[in-house]
Amino acid sequence: MANFFALIPAAGAGSRMRDELPKQYLPLAGKPMIYHALRTICSSLRIVRVFVVLAPGDDEWLRHDWSEFSGKLVVLQCGGATRAQSVLNGLQGARDISAIGDGDWILVHDAARPCLGETQLDKLMDELAGDEVGGLLAVPVADTLKRSDTSSRVACTESRENLWQAQTPQMFRYRLLVEALSMTGGATMTDDAGAVEALGLQPKLVLSDARNLKVTYPQDLALAELILRNS
Ligand code: C5P
Repeated sequence: MANFFALIPAAGAGSRMRDELPKQYLPLAGKPMIYHALRTICSSLRIVRVFVVLAPGDDEWLRHDWSEFSGKLVVLQCGGATRAQSVLNGLQGARDISAIGDGDWILVHDAARPCLGETQLDKLMDELAGDEVGGLLAVPVADTLKRSDTSSRVACTESRENLWQAQTPQMFRYRLLVEALSMTGGATMTDDAGAVEALGLQPKLVLSDARNLKVTYPQDLALAELILRNS
């Protein structure tokens, strides 16, 4: 039986938030943002261990109390220059200190998605546990899509048929994920599924919903807070 592990890359600077503090530490519902995803993931009885990947020299993590997650949470200070590199470094660092099998599942979740719900997390694991490739939470695109020219004028309208917005967690087996990220070098990949696709595989899309939003711009924080307070 394959075990489930989680890995949270949290080594980004979050420059689009226009804040001195890296995005994962911004205050949200009384806690640093990353706390919320950690709470949901660490509470899952199916997940054996949770690895957080911080930037080398991150001195903010120790300013907060993480003791409620002790026993399950492992901190790795090996973040890289890109998200993909942080994930790859984290996977290697995780195996150095834990017995992770090639066939074990790794759920990679962005620290910037604080509103992940237990139901979505369970659904992902239920739907993919027997899958050959693995996959990700995602939502079908609802808006009409416009492609712009360089001066913000509409160049054309794109069909939204069969288009999905990728979310996290994204769940793949350890060996496949390391192979995929090592092969692509993570150059232009903004998610893990992209690296797996580059190997010619087709990750499965597991239907999620808009509550699992990614906090990218300052106005996203208020929405995330509303969702957390109502869940
Ligand atoms: O910047 P973006 O929102 O796409 O980042 C997604 C996730 O990847 C965040 O949790 C961020 O901290 C993480 N990341 C990382 N290492 C980087 C860049 C981003 O761990 N070099």
